[in-house]
Amino acid sequence: MDFGEVKEGSARVRTAENAFYNPHMEFSRDFSSLAVAALDGALPDGAKLRICDGMSATGIRGIRYAIENRNVEAVTFVDMDKAACELTAENAKANGLQDFAALSSEPEKKSTVQGGADGGRAPIFRVVEDDINHHLYRGGEKFNFVELDPFGSPVPFIRSALLNLRASKHGFLSVTATDTAVLCGAHQKACIINYGARPLHTYFCHEAAVRVLAGHVVQVAAAMHLGIRPLFLLSKRHYVKGIFEVSKSASAAYDSMMRLGYVSFCPKCLAIKTMTKPMLPSICESCGAGGTGADGGSAPIWGGPMWLGELHDKGVLERMQQANSERRYGNRVEIANTLLLMRQEMGMPAFYYDMHAVADHFRAMPKPFDRIVAALQDKGYTVSRTHFNGLAIKTNAPAKDVADAITIQ
Ligand SMILES: C[S@@+](CC[C@H](N)C(=O)[O-])C[C@H]1O[C@@H](n2cnc3c(N)ncnc32)[C@H](O)[C@@H]1O
Ligand SMILES: [Zn+2]
Repeated sequence: MDFGEVKEGSARVRTAENAFYNPHMEFSRDFSSLAVAALDGALPDGAKLRICDGMSATGIRGIRYAIENRNVEAVTFVDMDKAACELTAENAKANGLQDFAALSSEPEKKSTVQGGADGGRAPIFRVVEDDINHHLYRGGEKFNFVELDPFGSPVPFIRSALLNLRASKHGFLSVTATDTAVLCGAHQKACIINYGARPLHTYFCHEAAVRVLAGHVVQVAAAMHLGIRPLFLLSKRHYVKGIFEVSKSASAAYDSMMRLGYVSFCPKCLAIKTMTKPMLPSICESCGAGGTGADGGSAPIWGGPMWLGELHDKGVLERMQQANSERRYGNRVEIANTLLLMRQEMGMPAFYYDMHAVADHFRAMPKPFDRIVAALQDKGYTVSRTHFNGLAIKTNAPAKDVADAITIQ
């Protein structure tokens, strides 16, 4: 890899061999920066975001949040790696953020530095070389937006992030997970241990993955009397990402817990059934698989507990669409498509049918997409595409009708 200056969004940062930078995560940073824009006005009394960029590496994520949006007051970059911290400080300054340390020693500068996204005072930054858990638990700084972008699983950091956000009563938790093999069920035991949920290793595992992650956040938060609501849940390439609204309220925590549940999936007829209580059928209600006789070996598999509530916030997605149309991101077309699909999948049942997987399962050819949709709509069902899988549909039709609509017999 070539180490030098990179331009992403409105930022230019220097990369270096000893600080992690992954160009393939640009989409994730674009998408998240749009979500930050969508949070303008979301906090009481017009409060701005005080962001903790928990694993900053080059600092590019927090820098972009700060300079591309007018609703960011300050960013604290935390990384346990000394070289990453030094590079982050250099990059933050080079992108016009105000150094808190310099400001404290020269107070007259405070009101003169310009450069924020609205042309006003530039956001303040500081860099802390520390373990993120230690920094968040210490509680010296009260954040209302915490970013967790670790290598692999965010699980070890979610508790400290929520505890810190609790002090602000209302805030946002932004989480990336790259342990998708675990969340998608390739390593079932690891998912049960790390996320407290049984994953589903099937063709709709990407949606199950974001729901398992969200379900875990809900459960950790509930014990602190924090309610959780996803603003979006994204599955992309090798990672999943969610931004959650966090509000301090025992009743909100209870409401979030009530949105957790289980899913059962019949590997024979492909019926998907979600339920809020763990009343797990050993025989498929749809086709009888799992009983005695020839079907005895194909009992439904199940996963959960996981988030079964709405995947995204409509207002946030609309404001992200608006912000995306006003920016010149290289990924803007792909982002626009993703946001459109997310809008379409709202209000639809949990999980989806992969048209090719369904056709393969019944040893048939799939019909063209438009014919599948028309066949289901003609029977009065609703159908949408989904961002989780470009070859899949969401529908309220039962598996039997989905199979009939998809396959050419
Ligand atoms: C995936 S990189 C972050 C990438 C960055 N956010 C970006 O968008 O380019 C993970 C970073 O977390 C740091 N890190 C890992 N464990 C940490 C911990 N416990 N506390 C603080 N930083 C940590 C690593 O040094 C590394 O720089
Ligand atoms: Zn069945």
